[in-house]
Amino acid sequence: MNLVIRPFQPADLPSLQRITIESFAGISLDQTIEAQFGEQHGHDWRWRKARHILIETERNPAGAFVAEVDGSIVGFITTQLDREAGSGRIANLAVVAELRGRGLGRQLIEHALAWFRGEGLGFALIESMAHNEVGRGLYASVGFSEIGQLVHFAMKL
Ligand SMILES: CC(C)(COP(=O)(O)OP(=O)(O)OC[C@H]1O[C@@H](n2cnc3c(N)ncnc32)[C@H](O)[C@@H]1OP(=O)(O)O)[C@@H](O)C(=O)NCCC(=O)NCCS
Repeated sequence: MNLVIRPFQPADLPSLQRITIESFAGISLDQTIEAQFGEQHGHDWRWRKARHILIETERNPAGAFVAEVDGSIVGFITTQLDREAGSGRIANLAVVAELRGRGLGRQLIEHALAWFRGEGLGFALIESMAHNEVGRGLYASVGFSEIGQLVHFAMKL
C-alpha cells in the first residue's frame, strides 16, 4: 500500500467532510441528539459533523493531516492546540471503511503526536464515545490512559 500522510490543504475539505459523514454514522453525538430531539435549526447531524471539520481545519489548518493511498484521500486527523497550556487535542479522526484495520488510524495518530512534540507541546488529549470500542482500543494502544468519563446533556429551548 502506497500510503502518504501529508499536511491538509483547503481543497481537501469536501473529501474530509464526506469521509466524516460516512464514518460517524452510529457514533456521532450530534446524531444521538437528533434521534432524541429531532433536527435542530434546519440542519441534520451530517451537516453539524461536517461543520466541525470546517471549523477545526479553519482554526488549525497546520495541525490537520490527510492520509492518501495512490493519490486518493482515505483518512484524516484534525487537532486543536492550546500553546499556553502546552497541550494538543486530537479533535477528529477517520479512515474509510474499506481500509480500516490496516494501521492507517494508528499512523495518523502517531503523525499528530509527532507534530505535537515538534510544536513543543508536552501533553496530548483525545475523547471517545464510551460505546466506540475501536477508538478506545486504539487510543490505549498508542499510549493514552483513560482519565475519566464525561456525560453529555442536552435540552431543547
Ligand atoms: C477509529 C478509526 C480511525 C481507526 O482506523 P483504522 O485504520 O481501522 O485503525 P488501525 O488499523 O490503525 O487500528 C489500530 C487499532 O484499532 C483497534 N481496533 C481496530 N478494530 C477494532 C475493533 N473492531 N474493535 C476494537 N478495537 C479495534 C485495535 O486496537 C487496533 O490495534 P491493533 O493494531 O493492535 O490491532 C476507524 O475505525 C474509523 O474511521 N472509525 C470511524 C470513525 C471513528 O470512530 N473515529 C474516532 C472517533 S472516537
